[in-house]
Amino acid sequence: MAIETEINPEASVHSDEGRFGRYGGRFVSETLIGPLEELTAAYAQAKQDPQFHAEVERELSSFVGRPTPLYFAQRLTANSAGAKIYLKREDLAHTGAHKINNTVGQAVLAARMGKRRIIAETGAGQHGVATATVAARLGLECVVYMGADDVQRQAANVYRMRLLGAEVRPVEGGTRTLKDALNEAMRDWVTNIDDTFYIIGTVAGPHPYPTLVRDLQRVIGIEAREQICAAEGELPAAVVACVGGGSNAIGIFHPFLDDRGVELYGVEAGGEGLGSGRHAAPLNAGRPGVLHGSRSYLMESAEGQIIGTHSISAGLDYPGVGPEHAYLKDIGRANYVTIDDDEAIAAFHRLCRCEGIMPALESSHAIAYAEQLAARLSPQQSIVVSLSGRGDKDIATVAAQEGIEL
Ligand SMILES: Cc1ncc(COP(=O)(O)O)c(C=O)c1O
Repeated sequence: MAIETEINPEASVHSDEGRFGRYGGRFVSETLIGPLEELTAAYAQAKQDPQFHAEVERELSSFVGRPTPLYFAQRLTANSAGAKIYLKREDLAHTGAHKINNTVGQAVLAARMGKRRIIAETGAGQHGVATATVAARLGLECVVYMGADDVQRQAANVYRMRLLGAEVRPVEGGTRTLKDALNEAMRDWVTNIDDTFYIIGTVAGPHPYPTLVRDLQRVIGIEAREQICAAEGELPAAVVACVGGGSNAIGIFHPFLDDRGVELYGVEAGGEGLGSGRHAAPLNAGRPGVLHGSRSYLMESAEGQIIGTHSISAGLDYPGVGPEHAYLKDIGRANYVTIDDDEAIAAFHRLCRCEGIMPALESSHAIAYAEQLAARLSPQQSIVVSLSGRGDKDIATVAAQEGIEL
């Protein structure tokens, strides 16, 4: 039985907590209420505890390597002949993506709660690698669920997880991608609730996950805001980030939310084009519904079935999106746009050649949109782009596009 069925809103317990307008909440079966409340209480307590913050900050600086730099992409800027493009270099964080920020925080929380076993789901493998890394660092058992298709297209990350001592469990059901991995992870959690902590990799899922993950990823935006003000003496015209579940985007957007002059752009995966139906863009082409325990935009058929998604980047290949993004879209505070596979691949190559930086295919979506946006703005203005991860994991995918087998 799929977890979508298990969290069918008709048959569910509904909490008013964790709302972003009419989105978010906690649409789960009775069995998950206890563990979610235990987690909510533990996080509320940790948030009040300076020791928790000190420990997370220590891990972020000594293990993750924060703060990550804000880099002025001079040649990329010259190429688009418009606003200055700055890159927030999450690709330089330990393990090569922003996912480590959240994972470190949740693992510290897990250890406080006395949990010895960590589970996670992963799409691109970056969250799985980050989780396997912190589990190794803290001496915890680790199981990672991954769609069978993603296991294939992210083979290098699967091997990395195994080297780090994690067990990777391929999920054969459904579309064999992230959505199915999430279902399996939730099922494991329900079964092993006593000793297991479920580290969700993005701002989706039932309350408190969207808030918990957002709080842990805010570090990206806090640093970026300070760094751009120091570099330019003023706020940027825009902030741009790719949106899968939405954790790097909400992390960089959040500290800018009250800066009304700063435009926020979330870039979804346009796949083969919105018209083709083969994409992963719920905010652009989906509608509100319930998936994985919370209400947000998602891609479903007229009959209410989740539609199979497509993106060249495994990390954006998800039919849902974090509920806070749904809210920011509805109130008009953030804009959500799409970049298709071909545009992302082209941006991947341009950043390699122009700057000597190989971006993740997820981040390449944000780069492609930032270049288009920059060309519409003036050279006096600046744009900050979340470079959410590095592209080493994607070179086989890019090579295959060109008919090269590595
Ligand atoms: C490098 C990178 N960027 C972005 C994402 C998308 O996730 P999110 O939208 O939660 O930032 C992923 C997911 O795996 C990723 O690996």
